[in-house]
Amino acid sequence: MITILGAGKVGMAAAVMLMMRGIDDLLLIARTPGKPQGEALDLAHAAAELGIDVDIVGSNSYEDMRGSDIVLVTAGMGRKPGMTREQLLEANAKTMADLAEKVRTYAKDSIVVITTNPVDAMTYVMYKKTGFPRERVLGFSGILDSARMSYYISKKLGVSPSSVNSIVLGMHGQKMFPVPRLSSVGGMPLEKLLSKDDIEEVVAETVNAGARITELRGYSSNYGPAAGLVITVEAIRRDAKRVYPFSVYLQGEYGYEDIVAEVPVVIGKGGAEKVLELPLTEDEKRRLDEAVEAVRRLVNILPEDLRS
Ligand code: 2OP
Repeated sequence: MITILGAGKVGMAAAVMLMMRGIDDLLLIARTPGKPQGEALDLAHAAAELGIDVDIVGSNSYEDMRGSDIVLVTAGMGRKPGMTREQLLEANAKTMADLAEKVRTYAKDSIVVITTNPVDAMTYVMYKKTGFPRERVLGFSGILDSARMSYYISKKLGVSPSSVNSIVLGMHGQKMFPVPRLSSVGGMPLEKLLSKDDIEEVVAETVNAGARITELRGYSSNYGPAAGLVITVEAIRRDAKRVYPFSVYLQGEYGYEDIVAEVPVVIGKGGAEKVLELPLTEDEKRRLDEAVEAVRRLVNILPEDLRS
């Protein structure tokens, strides 16, 4: 069973996409009485129409997640127009700490995937508060950040985004680091395909993609994160050993200790089974340092009891 914590826009988009893939039974947990139950019922009817045999249940009780092997955390406030991810920090950190306790109590062997923003800092809180091994606490956003970069490159080149291999490192936020030198299309380095100006534009569009959506429609993305969650769940379930960027707790990789950062990892049934260390130039390492520093600043703002 897959548990989704939070029945808001991200949680529900993920539920819809997971249902459509028929991967497993779904449990939706949220605090508002009736909300997860109503959403689950509607979705269960949709599954019945489509002939997809999965159970979909809603609940306000965290203990119902017993036996769940994957927990997707989508709870917390989303960004409003003009609001930065960082402003969400404290409120959502408190929510993460509360949920970490529930996950530790009722789903102690699960793999937890966090989408709540600012996601790198929230992953840090979840890691500390569950006490789980770092392999089982994944901050989601890298799949989306790199897919966005591929999307913007694909628009410039007239090729499919799936033929573009994009690398985004560091963090999910203004200091995220799309790495043009390591990105390619069909094996061709990006820097040979696009001008410097075009690359700069792609990088800016990638960094600002989330804010752009929020600006346009008044609330933050949900389909993008949801699609990435589905890919994550499939990679775990199939023990696929796929390589994606995720925000994970670093233990010396890239020279960082005791911090969460977005790096490529191998995803399999154990979660983030391996961190890949990309060879970076001095300049790139400096950019990565800036991203990691930005996460560290956020974590350090948190009251001691939320980050230990
Ligand atoms: C995004 O990048 C809101 O962080 C989310 O779309």
